[in-house]
Amino acid sequence: MSSHDLLEISSLSVAYQGRPVLDGIDLTIAPGETVGLVGESGAGKSTLAWAVLGLARPSAGRIVFDGQDITRAGRRGRRLLSSSLQMVFQDPYSSLNPARRIGDALAEPLLHRRDLSRADRTRLVEESLRRVGLPGDAAQRFPAHFSGGQRQRIAIARALVGSPRLVICDEPVTALDLSVQAQIINLLAELQSELGLSYLLTAHDLAVVRHLAHRVVVLHRGRVVESGPTDVVWTRPAHPYTRALLAAAPVTDPVAARAAAAAREAVFSTTVGSAPPESAGGCAYAHRCAFAEARCRVERPVPTPTPDGTVVACLRQDELPAR
Ligand SMILES: Nc1ncnc2c1ncn2[C@@H]1O[C@H](COP(=O)(O)OP(=O)(O)OP(=O)(O)O)[C@@H](O)[C@H]1O
Ligand SMILES: [Mg+2]
Repeated sequence: MSSHDLLEISSLSVAYQGRPVLDGIDLTIAPGETVGLVGESGAGKSTLAWAVLGLARPSAGRIVFDGQDITRAGRRGRRLLSSSLQMVFQDPYSSLNPARRIGDALAEPLLHRRDLSRADRTRLVEESLRRVGLPGDAAQRFPAHFSGGQRQRIAIARALVGSPRLVICDEPVTALDLSVQAQIINLLAELQSELGLSYLLTAHDLAVVRHLAHRVVVLHRGRVVESGPTDVVWTRPAHPYTRALLAAAPVTDPVAARAAAAAREAVFSTTVGSAPPESAGGCAYAHRCAFAEARCRVERPVPTPTPDGTVVACLRQDELPAR
């Protein structure tokens, strides 16, 4: 870890009903940095986001935020954190109470701040609304008055009202119309450069991650298989899983689109029945990997730095064909 990291996650594990969902995750986020989490559905992206927010309970490991161990922060600790650590979720409809005025919903993260008067809160709420491109009088209205894109702006305004340092964005544009997605993506980028925020971002659409993330962390079955600067991972993906995932991403060129569809079939068609037993000691991707050898099924790969400046967990990293 660098002493400048805002978030430092080390050896983090989470299990649901005894089933490991995250298994020894290491991840850091620097101030002003966006880290994108990618990996197929069920990889554990949201679980990682929830663990940072205190909504999923770690079975092992540590989460340090701004120098403070928050792994098992209680209610009071979480309340104190709520100004500086915030979130934006996928669904702007369910994240806002329909019976509450926007202004009251936005003021909530500020209520524990004894240093703020009611007038201060009103001012901060209006500032935050204007910052995301909504009129200050939106505070008087109810959620039903707004479109999906506007509601996501409101959710962002609510996250920003207490001047957070880190905003967890779990699929922030997935539920929005395509035309609105671009506006919200640009808004998140603008807010970051204006305010120096850090983001932990997940998105099914890899183009969103490519656009916003400085660094990317590739999760496969609850383990990090590769991480590094987004440009490097995108142009020279090292781990066979990363290669398959990127090859499967939808593209606009029709010829490339057919190839991507075939790759998608290969990445995502594997049934649960062919998954390795949870206790398997080897690489969790070995049963699907075109490059796997016998040792890949028994020996667990350790995340290892590469000359490219990335970190890759693959036993055959030095023997793989060039991409
Ligand atoms: N509350 C829960 N109880 C039990 N299992 C859960 C719970 N939440 C998630 N899981 C399981 O944990 C695993 C990881 O889920 P998670 O939602 O973190 O994945 P994800 O990467 O965010 O997927 P997606 O891309 O679909 O959002 C999945 O196998 C899921 O079924
Ligand atoms: Mg998710």
